[in-house]
Amino acid sequence: MSKAGRLVVLVSGSGTNLQALLDASADPSYGARVVAVGADREGIEGLVRATKAGVPTFVEKLGDYPTRADWDRAIAAKIASYEPDLVVSAGFMKILGAPTLDAFPVLNTHPALLPSFPGAHGVRDALAHGVKVTGCTVMLADEGIDTGPIVAQEAVPVLPDDDEETLHERIKTVERRLLVEIVGRMAREGWTASGRHVRIGNQSEGEST
Ligand code: GAR
Repeated sequence: MSKAGRLVVLVSGSGTNLQALLDASADPSYGARVVAVGADREGIEGLVRATKAGVPTFVEKLGDYPTRADWDRAIAAKIASYEPDLVVSAGFMKILGAPTLDAFPVLNTHPALLPSFPGAHGVRDALAHGVKVTGCTVMLADEGIDTGPIVAQEAVPVLPDDDEETLHERIKTVERRLLVEIVGRMAREGWTASGRHVRIGNQSEGEST
């Protein structure tokens, strides 16, 4: 059974999910702590949040490497240098390649109820489709776009006057709580993955989280 004590969190933007993990891990009984924060770009609020919390940061920009494969190897090596038990992709807007995925479990969070509305515009796509309920999904990353085994999901209603911003903010309120809960439980209770099924602690197959 895997544990999740040492976290490397990857961000590309405001980093409010990262902040929720930083806040939770300030309590040693949480069971996990953020040992480094990585990004694919400079000048983002997520890196400022990490620095304020005294957590080391690194930036690996795709454009700094001749090929995607070179970037994949570089970011995997940087992540490895912090010896994480779990990598958390928290609003990291790049697909990680085999060098990272083969070396570490990667947890990803997405602002829609997968398998509906994968990709970079999950909230916009759900609104455009006219769904009445959307939500958030915490899943293990695989080589696809938001296709990995689902760990937990929570529904959020779409309100008649919602636009992308208001809906995303309501989803993120739920998402932050769910991500913190799942990462903490994975760290404290251990977890296993078999095919598309992820089990935390002694949670029985099919039991909702
Ligand atoms: C989150 O809603 C996350 O699910 C989403 O970006 C937001 C990041 O917010 N990720 C994706 O859409 C990935 N497909 P944050 O920077 O405030 O944590």
